[in-house]
Amino acid sequence: MPNETRRGWFHRKDDDDRSAATPVDGVQSEPASEADSTPNTRPDGAVGAILSASVDVPGEDSAAEIASDAPVEAPPVPETALSDDHAGQADADPIAPETSPVPVPASTVSTEAETPLAREVADHARRRQALASAPLPLPDRTRVFTISNQKGGVGKTTTTVNLAAALALSGAKVLVIDLDPQGNASTALGVEHRSDTASVYDVIIGDSPLGDVIQASPEAGDLSCVPATIHLAGAEIELVSLVAREQRLRRALDLHLKQMEEPYDYVFIDCPPSLGLLTINAFVAANEVLIPIQCEYYALEGLSQLLKNIELIEKHLNPELNVSTILLTMYDSRTNLANQVAQDVRDHFPQQVLATIIPRSVRVSEAPSYGQSVIGYDPGSSGSLSYLEAAAEIARRGAPIIEGARR
Ligand SMILES: Nc1ncnc2c1ncn2[C@@H]1O[C@H](COP(=O)(O)OP(=O)(O)OP(=O)(O)O)[C@@H](O)[C@H]1O
Ligand SMILES: [Mg+2]
Repeated sequence: MPNETRRGWFHRKDDDDRSAATPVDGVQSEPASEADSTPNTRPDGAVGAILSASVDVPGEDSAAEIASDAPVEAPPVPETALSDDHAGQADADPIAPETSPVPVPASTVSTEAETPLAREVADHARRRQALASAPLPLPDRTRVFTISNQKGGVGKTTTTVNLAAALALSGAKVLVIDLDPQGNASTALGVEHRSDTASVYDVIIGDSPLGDVIQASPEAGDLSCVPATIHLAGAEIELVSLVAREQRLRRALDLHLKQMEEPYDYVFIDCPPSLGLLTINAFVAANEVLIPIQCEYYALEGLSQLLKNIELIEKHLNPELNVSTILLTMYDSRTNLANQVAQDVRDHFPQQVLATIIPRSVRVSEAPSYGQSVIGYDPGSSGSLSYLEAAAEIARRGAPIIEGARR
């Protein structure tokens, strides 16, 4: 069980720790030859260090054992799944327990004694090794992502925070802009966001420079956050009468990036579950949209509305906007429904959907209550590994090639 000791250890990590990364316990890492041949990477190894440090976690129940049960019968995905209807949020399924990593090298797991638990342990070990041995490329310009889906509770904030933490851990310089009055991303990144805190509200409504409201997150790596406070709840209405109401975040961000000696590699903007002026500001400020889709019954409803809105923004306000990434979240392999939804989304968006799927995981949902990403909270958990893998995919896919789109 993650505890204060681990949290303290994690927060004390510095660059020296990161450069002293070791391979995953018991697993022989291949030499990181890519690091030498890839100029646009920073010295890292933090992922390996964090993952190998995570193996002291006592074991828990295995999700794999549960996953081997007969699949739950599920209704088919509705034909109207891509209609314009806005649907309510699907009920949350009971969260499956998961296994924390145990330092068993993949090569020593006997095939004779193979149980679901042993298979899962071996699988985790392989994944940790793959992550630790391959450094991630850095983009040659700042990639600004808007994480958006007007459906509530699909994993926007969870995805924002964990991808940001994963990329920061790999050596990237990352900023999260919390554009949701709920302030969930600020909470999860452990930054102050009481009502009297300087926040994104002061930037959008009060014309404060973005640099004045940025706070460093206690997460490992170079990770900062522009917090959201409750004042942002009134911003939708206040924005209506302001000049250039759709461009306010973009202008502040562009100015800040230009003034930085070493600009961010990634900026993630966490949107509220609506398509109002705050979300429009996020679309105008970004060059990529990442849509998290929950592997649930209503997952695709409302998606066509979202895509239409993005098209309108692209046409009239931000020609470089591009839906580059779709991430399937809260996947429960025990249900046929989750598989059907995942397949449906892949059929519709073969280019955009990441190969990595984020599983439903207790650790992922617990982490924010400790003011941490799941990568800081329980680095070797399946949720953490999945977000690290999703981040690696995003980093390797690189920025979209758009003429004249350099910031
Ligand atoms: N992979 C996961 N496994 C288990 N729980 C998850 C997972 N991803 C997200 N959750 C939980 O689901 C809930 C909704 O997630 P999150 O807040 O990220 O969604 P959201 O789209 O940002 O919501 P909102 O629309 O309200 O901003 C949270 O309680 C979160 O902890
Ligand atoms: Mg949210």
